[in-house]
Amino acid sequence: SILIVDFGSQVTQLIARRVREAGVYSEIAPFNSAGEAFERLKPKGIILSGGPASVTEAESPRAPQHFFDAGIPILGICYGQQTMTQQLGGEVEGGESGEFGRAFIQVSGQCALFDGLWTEGETHQVWMSHGDKVTSLAPGFRIVATTDGAPFAVIANDEKRFYAMQFHPEVVHTPDGGKLLANFVRHVCGLAGDWTMAEFRETKIRQIREQVGKGKVICGLSGGVDSAVAAVLIHEAIGEQLTCVFVDHGLMRSGEADQVVSLFRNHYNIPLVHVSCETLFLNGLAGETDPEKKRKFIGKTFIDVFEAEARKIGGAEFLAQGTLYPDVIESVSFTGGPSVTIKSHHNVGGLPERMNMKLVEPLRELFKDEVRALGRELGLPDIFVGRHPFPGPGLAIRIPGEVTKERCDILRKADAIYLEEIRNAGLYDAIWQAFAVLLPVRTVGVMGDHRTYDSVCALRAVTSTDGMTADVFPFDASFLTRVATRIVNEVKGINRVVYDYTSKPPGTIEWE
Ligand code: XMP
Repeated sequence: SILIVDFGSQVTQLIARRVREAGVYSEIAPFNSAGEAFERLKPKGIILSGGPASVTEAESPRAPQHFFDAGIPILGICYGQQTMTQQLGGEVEGGESGEFGRAFIQVSGQCALFDGLWTEGETHQVWMSHGDKVTSLAPGFRIVATTDGAPFAVIANDEKRFYAMQFHPEVVHTPDGGKLLANFVRHVCGLAGDWTMAEFRETKIRQIREQVGKGKVICGLSGGVDSAVAAVLIHEAIGEQLTCVFVDHGLMRSGEADQVVSLFRNHYNIPLVHVSCETLFLNGLAGETDPEKKRKFIGKTFIDVFEAEARKIGGAEFLAQGTLYPDVIESVSFTGGPSVTIKSHHNVGGLPERMNMKLVEPLRELFKDEVRALGRELGLPDIFVGRHPFPGPGLAIRIPGEVTKERCDILRKADAIYLEEIRNAGLYDAIWQAFAVLLPVRTVGVMGDHRTYDSVCALRAVTSTDGMTADVFPFDASFLTRVATRIVNEVKGINRVVYDYTSKPPGTIEWE
């Protein structure tokens, strides 16, 4: 395995992800408990992450010094390079300016990290984000790549198998970064690259058992993939100690609530409390048109209902959630600046403090595509695992203006037609998310000899890797015409269909 020492970078989890992609198991440990993790894991290699501190300040974090005497390969990234250099006797200076964003490095030498990838004289794009820089090498090191702003962009000590880079190989803006990391873990550390999701499953099951012991766990199901995968995994670990609660707000897509209930009760035989509370939610939403108030009401009511159910079940010490890594970083931007609230996302957030429960979050380090792979590994049906993301507040935020039962039903029909056509065209898996939106606008139309005066339906489809940015999916005109015709003909209440051509940013994926 690989031990990743975390110095607090926003993107440390991406290092773990790239290492997983190279088929190698890794664990992340904060710098101040890295020593214990080292004893336990006995890793074959160490990666020192980036971080916000400056090694020029007293008290800034360090890697345990004995790591450098352990005889195993070490890779330092950004802050990791700086602390490694200083701890081994080189020098680092605080920069007045820094380098942030895309940069081009010149390869000036050869080293094991570049094998089969980069050769001397080439130029490659990398992603920089640093203020400080190395100004004098530690003994035994040589320079193998440079940029204008960082003459020590990549350095190597082949004898000790220590490597370090100023840029971030873990982010997608460094196109060859994944391969550089794969070279480190496989080639330099000699790991086989045969680690799989099956082993992730085994490891997590063991960890869940250790964490929970004989305790009782409650898991809130949202109907989506993440909470379902978390629940199935936890059930596999602790069986009947888990109870699932599905707060059904009646704002799901067509047929979805039944699907969840039958998946858990019939397919997996996992105890499930199904709380149908459509009326409660619709009554509360009546007359409300403000998007944030709608979101807040749904979030709060969801928690109230969940809490009441949990009390009925009684005695649960743990709350399980399908939190993913992007949920964890959602509120922090990559550049470290404070981020503003665009939308108050609702998950079961806020619940744990209120209920004084401990969290079980087995998916916390995974990304959406990895959760899907794990779901398949756990035997969840493909149709369920591959489902597009769906927001917690459901259809309520796809009905700008007032939400009523009637409008939910109209939208469900249009949405189902749209998704059916997408599946028939074989496009479902190429799209991150596709859905219909029911607008609070009525327009005039003509059907047969009659004048109509009905609602407009907007169609949205985007591609994305994590929902943070998105591009419009380029359907061809005949596809959109077919969907529009079907919706207007088959859904009473809609007489016009438009397609949303806005990317994110500046648009968001959902309309509210
Ligand atoms: P936006 O609309 O912010 O959405 O571009 C980005 C992704 O997040 C989903 N989304 C939510 N997911 N609770 C969730 O669990 C929410 O309140 C919520 N709001 C938006 C959205 O569907 C897209 O995938």
